[in-house]
Amino acid sequence: MRRALVAGNWKMNGSSESIRTLLSGLVSGCQATVAEVLVCPPSVYLAQVTQTLQESPIAVGAQNVSEHSAGAYTGEVAPGMLIDLGCQYVILGHSERRALYGETDQQVAAKFSAALEAGLKPILCVGETLEQREQGVTLQVIGTQLQAVIDHCGIAAFADAVIAYEPVWAIGTGKTATAEQAQEVHLAIRQQLSQADKSIAEGCRILYGGSVNAANAAELFAKPDVDGGLVGGASLKADEFITICQVAGEEKTV
Ligand code: 13P
Repeated sequence: MRRALVAGNWKMNGSSESIRTLLSGLVSGCQATVAEVLVCPPSVYLAQVTQTLQESPIAVGAQNVSEHSAGAYTGEVAPGMLIDLGCQYVILGHSERRALYGETDQQVAAKFSAALEAGLKPILCVGETLEQREQGVTLQVIGTQLQAVIDHCGIAAFADAVIAYEPVWAIGTGKTATAEQAQEVHLAIRQQLSQADKSIAEGCRILYGGSVNAANAAELFAKPDVDGGLVGGASLKADEFITICQVAGEEKTV
């Protein structure tokens, strides 16, 4: 049984003050969740968050990382620096980074291998635009994004990784994929992994992201290949995020 994971992607939101309040709500509410809980704050707040969560079961991740380990890369953060701060995870290839900062499949693959090498668990984001869905090429688009990383890093790299399916049209729009749409893509992702290695495919957690909230989480997480969520807006509200984490634990416990 894969342990459910609920990750909060705070994106570029918060201040040290608002984060203090959010974390105190999460720490008291997440004590007894069955699901693994992860928060991914903006990089400048990572130290504050890892320090505050030291004694808590809530894990911390970054939203991006450099593919380089050190050197003349102004403005970038190296994988080893994230480890140094106490991070366990890093989100890679989020559609906002692909669309707004031009990240390519090759760059995402290079970041994935650099993250793993440093000891971070990558969360690889894949997803189609509305136009691609309407053209009927959703599974090809996601297959290409995933295959770039499998080819570059090898299938064994997915033993310590997580995949997040985030349809671009569902991010921040309030328009969630139906549970059936999510399951169809999650199954295709698992089958693609399975062609390379069956046991890695069975163990790899595949999260759904895109307007997940307390009201729709149960239906999404009830699907067999949906192993949790990557949550944006709703992860900024402690009560709602805790509810989503509890729902994930309930849906995935037999
Ligand atoms: P929303 O939950 O705000 O739609 O964002 C999803 C997302 O992009 C998480 O990475």
